[in-house]
Amino acid sequence: MPSIQFNIISLFPKAFNVLNDMGVISRAIKKNLVSIKVSDLREFGEGSYKQVDDIPYGGGSGMVLKPEPIYKAYESIVKSNNKLTLLMTPQGKVLKQKDFMRWLSFDQIIIICGQYEGFDERARKLADEEVSIGDYVLTGGEIPAISIINGLTRLIPGTLGDPDSLNSESHNNCYLEYPQYTRPSSFKGMDVPNVLLSGNHNAIRLWREDQMLKRTFERRKDLISSKDFKNSSVNKLISKKEVDYMKNFPCEGNDFFYDP
Ligand code: 6GU
Repeated sequence: MPSIQFNIISLFPKAFNVLNDMGVISRAIKKNLVSIKVSDLREFGEGSYKQVDDIPYGGGSGMVLKPEPIYKAYESIVKSNNKLTLLMTPQGKVLKQKDFMRWLSFDQIIIICGQYEGFDERARKLADEEVSIGDYVLTGGEIPAISIINGLTRLIPGTLGDPDSLNSESHNNCYLEYPQYTRPSSFKGMDVPNVLLSGNHNAIRLWREDQMLKRTFERRKDLISSKDFKNSSVNKLISKKEVDYMKNFPCEGNDFFYDP
């Protein structure tokens, strides 16, 4: 059974406790499908104050994480020969689902969390890849690292209660999910679409496929990414011709939603 060991280097080790409260993740930890070890960067700080940061050479505001504590923390980790080292920074490549698929083949993933205004440029040398989780800035790499652990763990076989929930999505993995409903069939004047109550499995399958395509077209045309859609308005009702066209469109490596 494949498993991944995560080693995190962070100034805020407690932030990772949240993973123990996430149902799917905590079960994966208990089943030894993942293990999460956090090194407290502070312990590798310098002098009696355990200094981890300093003012930037050349001046400027803010503090910069010193290289020595990061290297010491990194060197203290027992390495597998099939490891990947990630550095969390808003300057990294923006994470995609396909990166998770690629990283599943490693048995150890070391994640270095940046902090404050930044880190000494020489820390970059430790990383195989620099990763960002989106075009916005957070105070540190902890929340991004937690996202990575979460997103990767749910893909490890044996983690999700229903293995079908990944399989059934894999055909449609570049599209957004179709709308879902549960009981009651009528709620505050909002009714569940009749087709879902019909018991006609083929009609339901077709409706879901259609909804999936419409939704992706309206909300995330970038996932379908084609110059042919450039002139289509997002609000325009999608035509039959466009739906047919989208069905033939390659996924372009988006491997998008695997929602359980
Ligand atoms: Cl990886 N770090 C920080 N500090 N901010 C971010 C980010 C990472 N990804 C998006 N924003």
